Amino acid sequence: MPFVSRKNSQSIAIKLVTREALQNQKKRSSEHDWLKTNGFEGKPGTTCFVPKQAKGQVRLFVGVKEGKKLGDEIWDLAGLPNQLPKGRYHIENHLSPEKATKIATGWALGEYQFSKHKKHAKCEAELVWPTNADRAEVNRLASGITITRDLINLPANDLGPLELADATKKMAKAYKASVTVITGKELLNKNYPSVHAVGRASSRAPCLIDLQWGRRSSPKITLVGKGVCFDSGGLDIKPASGMLNMKKDMGGAAQVLGLAHMIMDAGLSIRLRVLIPAVENAISGDAFRPRDVLQTRKGITVEVGNTDAEGRLILSDALTEASKDKPEMIIDFATLTGAARVAVGTDLPALFCNNDKLAQKIIEFGLKNNDPVWRLPLWEGYKHLIESNVADLSSTGSTPFGGAITAALFLENFIEGDIPWAHIDLMAYNTRARPGRPEGGEAQAIRGLYAMLKAKFG
Ligand code: BES
Ligand code: MN
Ligand code: ZN
Repeated sequence: MPFVSRKNSQSIAIKLVTREALQNQKKRSSEHDWLKTNGFEGKPGTTCFVPKQAKGQVRLFVGVKEGKKLGDEIWDLAGLPNQLPKGRYHIENHLSPEKATKIATGWALGEYQFSKHKKHAKCEAELVWPTNADRAEVNRLASGITITRDLINLPANDLGPLELADATKKMAKAYKASVTVITGKELLNKNYPSVHAVGRASSRAPCLIDLQWGRRSSPKITLVGKGVCFDSGGLDIKPASGMLNMKKDMGGAAQVLGLAHMIMDAGLSIRLRVLIPAVENAISGDAFRPRDVLQTRKGITVEVGNTDAEGRLILSDALTEASKDKPEMIIDFATLTGAARVAVGTDLPALFCNNDKLAQKIIEFGLKNNDPVWRLPLWEGYKHLIESNVADLSSTGSTPFGGAITAALFLENFIEGDIPWAHIDLMAYNTRARPGRPEGGEAQAIRGLYAMLKAKFG
């Protein structure tokens, strides 16, 4: 962690200022003359060093947004670790505990690098823990998000289904959670036919990862994550441009593991279950085909419309299993459709939810934590689009219109009755770098969801 406990004689004061505050400052000082000469107006994201004045010390002014909502501040200082010269820094402003925790979390995330295969220059700025910051919470959020980012950033040749299972086991061990993994042909014996059908073409066997943690008597929450370690599209092969980033197609699994880390580390009063169907959607003589009719764990038959719609197939078996023990809530994360990205773009995960109260909570906590999601409808009127003439359901239907909705409607068939269920269709990837968020794998919606669960079960 990039933090130190205390100031020293050399530590540099960081002062957060808004443009407004700077303009309204009545008393002119040599410090303000310096800022003016350097063209610093407090614009959000800009910084200016001011040398030691007659009285006082070296200060770093950092512009932040005016009148921001609570939650926005997480990224205020997140660009600094990569930008500042070596040294020790401390924040001069008074910050509320919530704000201090957010800013420190952003700073920690600003230091993130994926350095497994290339050494990067280390960040050499260290921050004195802001007074009031909840240090354990900062460490918990940063390490959960680091788990998520690292898993997504790992190239597919480093992370197949087995390695994803190993990563789950490694995390479980630290919190005395139990993990079972059903692999290869065993998936057929244990009735996970869809997971097997999608994953069997790869030389790397598919598996179903099942983590359980917490007291049996606690309220049960089940997380499900799409774990497609590489999505070539299968026989309906993707063009090169569409395949390029498909190492990230286990981004749903990476979210639930990051979130599980936060939940377990915080010791929330939850009986947690994490289900990850892990496969590689590959091509071989044994690959599943368009118009194949697949069995599912639930007994619903599915006609394959396109082998590139693989996520919903493997999730169908996992959601059936998730429903079996009637949890309080099921939340699934999946890089499920390009259509969701067309609808709401790369930064906003699409939320589908069969329960208005739950949806409201998820949206609210997302906004408060600068981790937004946007709700799309489980529009019943489109159910006919995924009917099939030869099976109970078609995996795709015949039209791409409303593709994120029809995918969500497909999944809904595998949720038992009235279990509150949220489905998050997300990008899991930054297509461009922003402060605290380098290009590459990204945690989306899990900070908001963690905050929601903590408020209820903390
Ligand atoms: N993993 C993709 C969806 C995806 C693509 C998510 C790009 C994020 C960015 C998924 O498996 C897929 O290929 N979906 C198809 C479904 C279609 C064949 C019905 C899609 O969205 O084109
Ligand atoms: Mn696909
Ligand atoms: Zn996919």
